[in-house]
Amino acid sequence: MLSFSFRNGDRLPALGLGTWKSSPGAVQAAVAEALAAGYRHIDCAPIYRNEPEVGRAIAAAIDAGAVARADLWLTSKLWNSAHAPDQVRPALEQTLADLRTDYLDLYLIHWPVAFAPGVPYARKREEFVPLADQPISETWKAMEACVAAGLVRHIGVCNFSVAKLDALCGQAAIQPEMNQIELHPYLQQRATLDFCRERGILVTAFSPLGSGDRPAGMKKANEPTLLDNPVIRQVAARHKATPAQVLLAWGLARNTVVIPKSTNPQRLRQNLAAAEVRLDDRDMAAIAELDRGYRFVDAAFFTGPESPYTLATIWDE
Ligand code: A2P
Repeated sequence: MLSFSFRNGDRLPALGLGTWKSSPGAVQAAVAEALAAGYRHIDCAPIYRNEPEVGRAIAAAIDAGAVARADLWLTSKLWNSAHAPDQVRPALEQTLADLRTDYLDLYLIHWPVAFAPGVPYARKREEFVPLADQPISETWKAMEACVAAGLVRHIGVCNFSVAKLDALCGQAAIQPEMNQIELHPYLQQRATLDFCRERGILVTAFSPLGSGDRPAGMKKANEPTLLDNPVIRQVAARHKATPAQVLLAWGLARNTVVIPKSTNPQRLRQNLAAAEVRLDDRDMAAIAELDRGYRFVDAAFFTGPESPYTLATIWDE
């Protein structure tokens, strides 16, 4: 399996299993299947509301001797309701308990958006906390303390613009080592990739397949469908691969980690095999043309009349 190196030499498998939208009833079998198929990287988050089931599958595979913890890469994320420094370690400890492990390989701030402690999903004005009142730099110090305590090996962020990353880099004792962002041919984010590369920050692509199973409330009318795009289909036909494999191979060819979600045994295996698909310059040039700056996960759910956040303040665009 292709892998990317962190500054200390730790290696992260470049293709991992996404678990957002994997229902608690299906995810345990999916993780078990993925580990049996050869996945060694699982991307998790408490807001996916399935970490206990993911943890059960991991523990079962370790107990059966099928995989060692040291050979697994486990990522999880700090939810918006735990940005207050005194909330960070308890949130992490809950994730560790749920995943049945004593450390994470990577812990990420899930969004540059803060809620009041204990509020899973802010709707009313008083449930949101503006970043001016709860600065990312303070949350980050608590993340750094989790590294010092040996609870996490690496720390990073998700959904951070270049401006927010740059500001954090200027304030951090431990530099962020990962930015997990939405990336696919309709949202190629070249400037962010260039910035991260210059700073030695690795990038993970979420929703690499276009996240077609998002809840209806997160979908817009007439959304473009990535898996049906004619260019993607042509490239797939040329390589005797599937459209999903082309999308994943494209992400890997750009040196980004990809974390496709599937709970289907055949598609899980198909996605892992995408690492064998090698796109050439002609394919990459054709896919480069597809960029349309389109976000499937646009964060509109954090905005509205009651919220201090707007799309402009979240994305700095
Ligand atoms: P399923 O879990 O039934 O396989 P993303 O990773 O961008 O969020 O996309 C996840 C969506 O893509 C899910 O609906 C998932 O369905 C579907 N999916 C995963 N792998 C494939 C594949 N190889 N071909 C087609 N659809 C896939």
